[in-house]
Amino acid sequence: MSKMEKIKKIAEKELACSAHDMEHVMRVYNMAMKIAKTEKNIDHEILKAAVLLHDIARSREDDDKTGKICHAKESARMSKPILEKLGFSGEKIKKIQHCILTHRFKTKEKPESIEAKILFDSDKLDSLGAMVIIRAGMWMGRHNCSIFPKMSLKEYTKINLVGGKLNGRIKNASLHNIFYEHEIKDKRLPGVMHTKAAQKIAKERLTFTTNFLTRLKEEAKGIV
Ligand SMILES: [Fe+2]
Ligand SMILES: [Fe+2]
Repeated sequence: MSKMEKIKKIAEKELACSAHDMEHVMRVYNMAMKIAKTEKNIDHEILKAAVLLHDIARSREDDDKTGKICHAKESARMSKPILEKLGFSGEKIKKIQHCILTHRFKTKEKPESIEAKILFDSDKLDSLGAMVIIRAGMWMGRHNCSIFPKMSLKEYTKINLVGGKLNGRIKNASLHNIFYEHEIKDKRLPGVMHTKAAQKIAKERLTFTTNFLTRLKEEAKGIV
């Protein structure tokens, strides 16, 4: 078994929740490989390992009621002993950890290396388009959310996002919703992509999601 196959097996074990399971990781992987073809000087070993391990602590964050666990930090921390065991050098482990630590939209740490930028972009693209609709639906089912928002975005931000800020973490998952997510995160995504290839795909996918949510509201009102 190759190093990457071993990492994949370990990641599979850690990824328990359905919206962030191995299928998500493999979609991110495929997108990362596609974007990598449009960029130069990429260390594929760093990129592949980072993609496979980037969400291993996701379910720990989701299940944490205190809101203190950040899955990016936790996944980076958990990756170190896994990579050491597989014989990765200290320097490579640090570079892989940098990618994992900076893959999150909400955290302050920003991706600096080309591998970190590609992981960030590929991961965020999985939050746009047809995929976000089904993923959000699964996530909302898991957290007993309602389909439509119960309050204005302003009120929601004040009540349910840490610090009352749009980039604050979600306090109570059951109050969250695909419409809030669309306003808080999706609309900003094309502007935060680091690679040209990802920017182009993000714009096209955002249009699709926006049209879908408009249609959903119209159906609920009996317009269509
Ligand atoms: Fe993540
Ligand atoms: Fe992810």
